Amino acid sequence: MHVVLSIGGSAINPKGEPDLDFLKSMAQIIKKSKNKFGILTGGGSLARVHARAARALGASEYEADAIAITSTRQNAQLMIAALTAAGVKTLNRVVADFEDAKEPAKENKAAVMGGTIPGITTDTDAVLLAEAIGAERLVNISNVEAIYDSDPRHNPGAKRFKKLTYDELNKLAAESDKRTAGTHFVFDMLACKLIARSKIESHFVSGKNRKDMENAIEGKKHSGTVVKS
Ligand code: UTP
Repeated sequence: MHVVLSIGGSAINPKGEPDLDFLKSMAQIIKKSKNKFGILTGGGSLARVHARAARALGASEYEADAIAITSTRQNAQLMIAALTAAGVKTLNRVVADFEDAKEPAKENKAAVMGGTIPGITTDTDAVLLAEAIGAERLVNISNVEAIYDSDPRHNPGAKRFKKLTYDELNKLAAESDKRTAGTHFVFDMLACKLIARSKIESHFVSGKNRKDMENAIEGKKHSGTVVKS
């Protein structure tokens, strides 16, 4: 079966630089699994720095997004390098759109994408990829261990969820969307709506917890959050 991994830029370059140990360990996890993978990499701080610089030079939001997309694709290329070094069969280029992902996802152990069009985020890309290649499971890997009812970095009393339904997830995402800038929900609203419409079982785990990542990929119990019917 196919599993889509949505790997946040916060996990790939947590301190503004690529975390090579993380990339190598992701490649090993993928190698060990019997599943096939569609992988979507985020841009994190790399994307933010470039988008901010573009805006400071007078670029439009569309152009700032386009530049940020190139950062997500740089991270995708690093993921490909890590997979290749680990001996995992993958296409040696970043897949540019969902239609083009279908064949490589069948023929390889992993097909890797970055962002696609301005105006969305790689969370949404990840779910669209899952729909396109018929993945039954999605694993979101970021710098938070689970889904909370508010940002645990700003609110130490935030409630942590082990399990949510699609409706509950959408309610949380909508509430969080109304809050002021600076606190952003673990998965964007459009992405939440898309996993609900296709009923894709989704797991939210931290990139710092290898065991959780491995268990989530296999659909086993972990300390993060599972979203399903
Ligand atoms: P991310 O998906 O990494 O955004 O894309 P994010 O929400 O900042 O992710 P994390 O969780 O903090 O890592 C980075 C930026 O790239 C552009 C958007 O500007 C987005 O904020 N982007 C990405 C697009 O315009 N289209 C895409 O398909 C993907």
